[in-house]
Amino acid sequence: MADQKLLEKINKLREEKNAVILAHYYVDGEVQALADYVGDSYFLAKLATTIDKENVILCGVNFMGESAKLLNPGKNVILADELADCPMAHMVEIEKIEQVRREYPDVAVVCYVNSTAEIKAHSDVCVTSSNALRVVKNIINKQIFFIPDNNLGRYISKMLPEKEFIFHDGFCHVHKSITKEAVEKAKEIHPQAQVLAHPECTGDVLELADFVGSTSEIIDYATESEAETFIIGTEMGILYELEQRNPNKKFYSVGHRQFCPNMKRITVEKVAEALETLEPKVIVLDEIAKNAAKPLQKMMELAK
Ligand code: 13P
Ligand code: SF4
Repeated sequence: MADQKLLEKINKLREEKNAVILAHYYVDGEVQALADYVGDSYFLAKLATTIDKENVILCGVNFMGESAKLLNPGKNVILADELADCPMAHMVEIEKIEQVRREYPDVAVVCYVNSTAEIKAHSDVCVTSSNALRVVKNIINKQIFFIPDNNLGRYISKMLPEKEFIFHDGFCHVHKSITKEAVEKAKEIHPQAQVLAHPECTGDVLELADFVGSTSEIIDYATESEAETFIIGTEMGILYELEQRNPNKKFYSVGHRQFCPNMKRITVEKVAEALETLEPKVIVLDEIAKNAAKPLQKMMELAK
């Protein structure tokens, strides 16, 4: 439980500094509890375009801060911890994009939002896990180079036979650690449970799932479902909101390694410090920002 005095300090600073606190479902429950808004990557990006506060404190990983800044360049976006970074965001190189563009001149480069601003600047359209299928379906190009996540790309490609996909080999180490064998074992222990998985999981795990979706889609599905027990195939931070909304349902994570060390860098103390100092601010160089905002804006358009 977060210290009461610290929470009071945060509430006071939030007012004084004209700030709003945004958090992703993977950060610690006590950070989610103090945030003004908690959501999946798409929700957080969309929200950034409507915020009327001067300072946005982002409790999540680097690419989320960059996306908020790109979509809302007039605001200060402050990271609760600037070292909280998503390894997947760095798993593709510009040279690779250029090589694929040379080989397939008609290709659309579709980048998962879990990517650096620099990679976005070299892409045509962005997607998140909740809108990837809809956005790619609405792209006119037939050939799609999907970066960096291999699993999400393959998952949506199965539902889009009219497209030709070129995949990349990026992955999320947290979701990759969830194995088919572990899901089968969890199902043996909880035979009545429904399996809910994030599309960053490997294909064999997704085949065992009753539902596949983004973090907020998993939460909505579990909340609306008649089932009472669920096996959760995504990062453990999501259990906080699942349990808040469904106190009478039971949630089990597949294993004990579903833990994103970067998301867990965010603490209540760091949120207080970020509010106090309004540092570190997200800075995206102008020449990158100009092009990196375009695929995010295109995503908003195609996701409608
Ligand atoms: P979503 O919240 O969009 O499902 O994304 C999951 C994720 O890995 C964020 O880093
Ligand atoms: Fe990146 Fe995976 Fe952590 Fe999400 S859970 S921030 S994809 S490492």
